[in-house]
Amino acid sequence: MNFELSEEHLAVRDAARDFAHSELLPGVIERDSEAKFPKEQIKQMGELGFMGMMVDPKYNGGGMDTLSYVLAMEELSKIDASASVSMSVNNSLVCWGLEKYGTEDQKEKYLKRLATGEILGAFCLSEPEAGSDATSQRTEAKLEGDHYILNGTKNWITNGGTASVYLVIAQTDSSLGHKGISAFIVEKGWDGFVIGKKEDKLGIRGSDTHSLMFTDVKVPAENRIGDEGFGFRFAMETLNGGRIGIAAQALGIAAGAYEFSLAYSKERKAFGKPISQHQAIQFKLADMATTIEAARLLVYKAAILKDQGKDYAHASAMAKLYASQVAMDVTVEAVQVHGGYGYVKEYHVERLMRDAKITQIYEGTSEIQKIVISRGILK
Ligand code: CAA
Repeated sequence: MNFELSEEHLAVRDAARDFAHSELLPGVIERDSEAKFPKEQIKQMGELGFMGMMVDPKYNGGGMDTLSYVLAMEELSKIDASASVSMSVNNSLVCWGLEKYGTEDQKEKYLKRLATGEILGAFCLSEPEAGSDATSQRTEAKLEGDHYILNGTKNWITNGGTASVYLVIAQTDSSLGHKGISAFIVEKGWDGFVIGKKEDKLGIRGSDTHSLMFTDVKVPAENRIGDEGFGFRFAMETLNGGRIGIAAQALGIAAGAYEFSLAYSKERKAFGKPISQHQAIQFKLADMATTIEAARLLVYKAAILKDQGKDYAHASAMAKLYASQVAMDVTVEAVQVHGGYGYVKEYHVERLMRDAKITQIYEGTSEIQKIVISRGILK
């Protein structure tokens, strides 16, 4: 077992770190405050290759491994989790699924532009009454000749307003349960496709979350991904990888809050010395560093298993479950280390604390991760 990162991995990590500090940090507080999508920054991330990192270069991707993606996610999330969730959805939930299961025509038409960040993608599974219970899809797609007629509502869609391409999961035969669910590529602007209001959220406020309404939207049959009935497995497999991205995001949020706290504790003086020299603060820093390192090992392990072509569903759920708990615990402690300064926007940690919570909810709540883990243990 080798715990050293390769030169290539270190270069990816450093490039992401430099970008986060030079381009994401200035303005992150204002974007959070105004719930403003980091449009310019996402464009730059596309130019630097962060939006399709694992896609084969023949489809304009970076051809990198999952570990590189995780390292970049971690660094960007230390500063701006709103930008990193957009990147995570585009990479793991949209590009990955299209590359693995899309037709050549679909890859030519959509993947090539998604992988460069020229356009953004969204993944549409959740519904008003189908969140954790993803088999209860109400959105319907009925085959009529050479196209499907799509009707329904999707909720909590990341990149909902800014995406151009939407992977939509819908029932094609409700009598078959999860085996009657299919996946489709839907384009923004098609008749009957309406983007609902932007959600006003606790955290990741710069990210663009919407509900979507489909009324008699005509979707060409050639835009179905895989066979009819493959949609649920498609969604589950996609989420197995997506959870590695969100675990890396949670790890980055925790590590960012820790780094801000460490620096602050060396500068801030109380009772005649820097607070880092008080044991009360040292114990907090030690707990933060230890749990972050444990989360990092779980996240990297899940990424490496995926890169080795091994089963990673169980490992990605463990990584997400643990890293998201660490993100919550560490960010709460980071605010405590900062005292009153931690409670105001200027010092970043209150934002990271608000951002941390969503990592325990999206791409499957912590309870869903426990279901996936226990099924892996018991099978
Ligand atoms: N990987 C691969 N296949 C899986 C799977 C996994 N992790 N979990 C289930 N499956 C397969 C099963 O093998 C089964 O297939 P077969 O019948 O062919 O054997 C099929 O899916 C149905 O499985 P279950 O009977 O276990 O289904 P279930 O109804 O009990 O629920 C669940 C399974 C794990 C709870 C699932 O519903 C789930 O993951 N729910 C959470 C959904 C979720 O994560 N939503 C997030 C939305 S996306 C998002 O947040 C993106 C964003 O914008 C940031």
